[in-house]
Amino acid sequence: QNQVTSVAIKNSNDAPTISKHIYGHFAEHLGHCIYGGFFVGDTSKIPNTNGVRNDIVKALKELKIPNLRWPGGCFADTYHWKDGIGPKENRPTIVNQWWGGVTEDNSFGTHDFLNMCELLGAEPYLSGNVGSGTVQELADWMQYTNFGGKSPMSDLRRKNGRTEPWKVKYWGIGNEAWGCGGNMTADYYANEYRKFATFMSDWNNTGGLIKIASGANSSDYNWTETLMKNIPLNMLGGVGVHHYAVIDWNKKGADVAFTEKEYFLTMQSALKMEELVTKHAAVMDKYDPEKKVAMIVDEWGAWYDVQKGTNPGFLYQQNTMRDAVLAGATLNIFNNHADRVKMANLAQCVNVLQAVILTDKAKMITTPTYHVMKMYSVHQDAKLIPIEFTSPLYIFNGQTIPAVSMSVSKDQKGLIHISLVNIDAVNKNKIEIDTASLGAQKYTASIITASKLQEYNSFENPDKIVPVAFKGFENKKGKLEITIPPFSVLVLEGK
Ligand code: AHR
Repeated sequence: QNQVTSVAIKNSNDAPTISKHIYGHFAEHLGHCIYGGFFVGDTSKIPNTNGVRNDIVKALKELKIPNLRWPGGCFADTYHWKDGIGPKENRPTIVNQWWGGVTEDNSFGTHDFLNMCELLGAEPYLSGNVGSGTVQELADWMQYTNFGGKSPMSDLRRKNGRTEPWKVKYWGIGNEAWGCGGNMTADYYANEYRKFATFMSDWNNTGGLIKIASGANSSDYNWTETLMKNIPLNMLGGVGVHHYAVIDWNKKGADVAFTEKEYFLTMQSALKMEELVTKHAAVMDKYDPEKKVAMIVDEWGAWYDVQKGTNPGFLYQQNTMRDAVLAGATLNIFNNHADRVKMANLAQCVNVLQAVILTDKAKMITTPTYHVMKMYSVHQDAKLIPIEFTSPLYIFNGQTIPAVSMSVSKDQKGLIHISLVNIDAVNKNKIEIDTASLGAQKYTASIITASKLQEYNSFENPDKIVPVAFKGFENKKGKLEITIPPFSVLVLEGK
């Protein structure tokens, strides 16, 4: 395409900071996310620290993982945390009723998770059990993890080998309360939330607890409205939103052997995030014009049919260049809405759905989505620079979606970062950014792309898709002209 799209840089005096927590992750007791993923046990030959794989810790630290949500998802509303503390041989086994009906021996519990977060340098985000748990159980969990003084729960923690409290700041009050978390109505859940939140204390130890309400399913704006209307704002730190990019819940399509039509439909569903965030934010603005309550997109990502031959309850899927494009475009949406979106969690971190890491026994690979998150980590805690442009269109079978996605920020060292995605599966796109006001003189760039959308990193060829230097741009007198190849994600750095 010869048409050039002009991008204007807007005044950024009042622009928000892009919270690093937008780049968060999610680990559920589901398939091989925890067991056989993060956690192999301390008797494993795979190098580990207290049972947690060292290679995964290293890879996630390189990603600058800011937070990790656990233990679910749907699993969270069946999870009783006291099953997962104390000597491992005494822990009860349970059945994971949501995910494959497998036996769960509780060998990975609260200490294992919170110590792992310390290894990762990530903030833990605990999902409390509202669906089948009690207020007392959740209050006890908070005392166990956060209280420094003498009390029944902090004494129990010490007895189990941990002196200092972990100081957990982020707490979810249930998960998908409209579905697997209890099939509640919004009104009923708002009352449950108020009750649970009343008894939650941070024991003066976190510098401010963030209590997060189980949010809407995609476009259920009434859910958000009911919570915002009925929960006093001083009890509400964040409101969740869940949205998966899915073609059709009854026929999700293959992870690798997909057609351009399926690619288009996946991206159409992913880009709906722009509308969702905008409209949920408008509802929140009505009740909270000062934007004190965070929007937390605590589950997002692509959901395809499971790989042939794998347990349908384990949600194992491969991760191709399609996923890289999806991640790049979604993260740009979150960056551009950083005034309200303060946290997001990709589903899920290891071996489940749109994973950044896949493992096969001792082998571990990073996926194209991992590389995008790593390239974009430069936006973490940087100041957003608002932009304005009209995207060219990606046209497929008479239907259209925007082809170009972009966000810009300035980090604490003054470096400018521009992340750009060309979603179009066939055509390159040319853009021209008016960079005069950004101050940077020199630009360098890296790109992630592939020869086919369906390509992926395999255990045999783990570095097939990795970022490389990109030279397809010209820096001319305050204007940056960039030709973005089809289905590619790039990040430019200006200094
Ligand atoms: O991420 C998989 C599942 O999707 C989660 O357990 C649930 O919250 C959502 O429906």
